[in-house]
Amino acid sequence: MIAQRVRGITPFLAMEVLERAQKLEREGASIIHLELGEPDFDTPACVRDAAVSALHAGWTHYTHSLGDVDLREAICGFYRRRYGVTVQPEQVLVFPGSSPAMMMLFSALLDPGDEVILSNPGYACYPNFVRYAGGVPVWALTHEEDGFQFRPEDVAGKVTPQTRAILVNSPCNPTGIVLEPERMRTLAGLGPLIISDEIYHGLTYGDAEEHCILEYTDNAVVIGGFSKAFAMTGWRLGYLIVPPSLSRPMQALMQNFFLSTNSAVQRAGIAALSCAEADVERMHAIYDERRRFLLGELKRLGFRIPVEPMGAFYVLINARHLDTNSLRLAFDLLEKAHIGVTPGIDFGTQTEGFLRLSYANSLENLAEAMRRLEAYMARI
Ligand SMILES: Cc1ncc(COP(=O)(O)O)c(C=O)c1O
Repeated sequence: MIAQRVRGITPFLAMEVLERAQKLEREGASIIHLELGEPDFDTPACVRDAAVSALHAGWTHYTHSLGDVDLREAICGFYRRRYGVTVQPEQVLVFPGSSPAMMMLFSALLDPGDEVILSNPGYACYPNFVRYAGGVPVWALTHEEDGFQFRPEDVAGKVTPQTRAILVNSPCNPTGIVLEPERMRTLAGLGPLIISDEIYHGLTYGDAEEHCILEYTDNAVVIGGFSKAFAMTGWRLGYLIVPPSLSRPMQALMQNFFLSTNSAVQRAGIAALSCAEADVERMHAIYDERRRFLLGELKRLGFRIPVEPMGAFYVLINARHLDTNSLRLAFDLLEKAHIGVTPGIDFGTQTEGFLRLSYANSLENLAEAMRRLEAYMARI
């Protein structure tokens, strides 16, 4: 009954933890959610206002299939200002979130058997997008000893005639690593198309430098979106920036499968790029404070943290001294300590025995989660 390509899709364990947590909450438990990659902030008011005004002003129709041209121009302006790169509106394709954008991208790129090089650990959904489109994920392992950095020389060793693309994600989910500029430059020079998931841009801390892959090569696709830095997960707004040769074939996919992305939401996206800077800065500063608090607490509790996370809103901790099976540990923490965390195995074999904690939650909740974790550790 069920198609082969669907049977190959593995569950997203962060969602499995969340769904179990929600069941416990319905039974009366008070759970602290650190399993979600979702800002706890509301979307900036100027963005919400822009969406309401857009609805009143009649932005209720299909837009251009590539996306509202004003939004695409605003995205080009944003990349020019922030990274000094020039892209044309025809290279920008707007989707209801970066997730559908990835689905269309891999459908457009991959023939059966084509390979995409992914880092292990990495975002849990990437291999599923690749497999669904008929491709084969090829893993470049990264290691705890060198802070899970994506090593260009290891990636180079994985390139074959079947390699269609190399995927990089900086700041990285789940490690919070920000790829060093020199590593990005070397990866960009390896030959294959580079797909750069930049969804966590705007969430980089300390002196880590945030670079767009287009600073190093034109043979690249940028995956971007409004979900994270602008706290707009529920709006569903993301985009791709593609080389000109990919734009027209992908437009045919969009015309057939999406027609267009929500019109008023795209107007909200334009507002986000023009009016939300102060709000984004405020949220960023709060994330940074939480990051430092959580790192301090986790170290105090004796966890090994392979690399100090400098981006996104995650901390990855080695919890093998508690249990080498991260899925079992995550569910045990949920049942006994009422803390939701994501098991490391969700991100690949290299992070089995690790847990990912999200600090997209208030300082008070983080402090309470650490008290519960400490009590749990004292018990076991
Ligand atoms: C690395 C990464 N890429 C892409 C996404 C998808 O984001 P969205 O579909 O909300 O744009 C996520 C969501 O957690 C993510 O962590």
